[in-house]
Amino acid sequence: MGMVRSIREKKRLALTKKRILITGGAGFIGSHVVRRFVTLYPDYQIYNLDKLTYAGNLENLLDVEAADNYEFIKGDIVDRSYVNSLFADLKFDHVIHLAAESHVDRSIESPMEFIETNIIGTVNLLEAARMNWGDNEAECLFYHVSTDEVYGSLEQGELFVESTSYDPRSPYSASKASSDHLVRAYHNTYGLPVVISNCSNNYGSHQFPEKLIPLVLNNIKNEMEIPVYGKGENVRDWLFVEDHAGAIDVIFHNGQRGETYNVGGSNEWKNIDLINVMCNIMDEKMGRAKGESAKLITFVKDRAGHDLRYAIDSSKLQRDLKWKPSLQFEEGLAKTVDWYLANEKWMNSVTSGSYNDYYEKQYGDSR
Ligand code: NAD
Ligand code: TYD
Repeated sequence: MGMVRSIREKKRLALTKKRILITGGAGFIGSHVVRRFVTLYPDYQIYNLDKLTYAGNLENLLDVEAADNYEFIKGDIVDRSYVNSLFADLKFDHVIHLAAESHVDRSIESPMEFIETNIIGTVNLLEAARMNWGDNEAECLFYHVSTDEVYGSLEQGELFVESTSYDPRSPYSASKASSDHLVRAYHNTYGLPVVISNCSNNYGSHQFPEKLIPLVLNNIKNEMEIPVYGKGENVRDWLFVEDHAGAIDVIFHNGQRGETYNVGGSNEWKNIDLINVMCNIMDEKMGRAKGESAKLITFVKDRAGHDLRYAIDSSKLQRDLKWKPSLQFEEGLAKTVDWYLANEKWMNSVTSGSYNDYYEKQYGDSR
């Protein structure tokens, strides 16, 4: 009898745990969010749903893959009946949605994948949540992780606030804007409990080297040209990825249903200045003469429709939910450089195979 009760008790406990579906957990930001939730919250059951596209990599999660409260599920959010059946089977009561096609240059080259994953994939999750949550909705949350790029491009002196009008200008940002609108529509129309955050550019460990910082570090290390789009005058607001994961944690637990929170580093850099800083750090780390790495800087054809400047005002998040970035940029960048230098195997594995084809296509004839 005692045995029977304890199994029943176990089942009951498993069902009373928060059952959180994290999508895109094998990607850059998603892997930091999964790691944080699995390690900080042993009482939550974390399911990581990821298609493992070129950007998804289970090596990002080796340190948590054996945890009792973690399960990986390989699957595609674009497959509607699959997503529905997963919700019906596993009874998720919370979603943290990060799965997306995330690179602007790829969206210029092939927009349809962005429409499918970022828009259709998001609606599939919203529908599954709406159908499955029913009367339990008060206990549930659909957290949509988005980008500041939905707001468009800024002139000097302005900042994005939560009420800034949407003005997306690339297929990537338009697809994310569309998904944000749909999430809000499900809140307004069906009362689905949602929260959205729009974050600035992230940097840190495990970022795929199609994005500026890991691409530049990898090229410097291998003494390859550093491709700078246009004149290098575009400005981005950089946030350490673990600080973004911390913001997602705070918003997940304390964010108001139906609200949007901007997340950013108040840390603006012109691309060319940031690249020069990385060159200097790498000269030191690689034991090269000062100025050696900067010789690799090569100005190439500008990105089509290249947004000039992004900069976030995160005062709502700081004021209402008491979040603030934990690291100074210098410290975060030094940590990041050290991680890439110490993880050559990771870099070699993600840059083998299809990366070379991508690189050739993107940069082969860009001058
Ligand atoms: P990423 O490209 O590194 O990872 C995306 C993950 O989603 C990958 O693991 C991939 O396999 C998975 N995925 C893609 N299509 C899928 C599909 N159809 N079904 C299931 N899984 C799929 O992206 P990231 O940089 O970690 O960004 C994560 C989220 O954060 C995205 O929604 C992005 O828009 C948003 N965001 C990113 C940044 C940034 O600076 N990187 C800033 C703000 C917001
Ligand atoms: P990226 O990391 O692609 O992020 P996003 O475009 O989403 O902000 O690019 C950051 C900035 O760096 C952006 O202004 C484009 C620029 N950039 C280059 O100059 N060269 C490159 O090879 C890449 C990938 C980006």
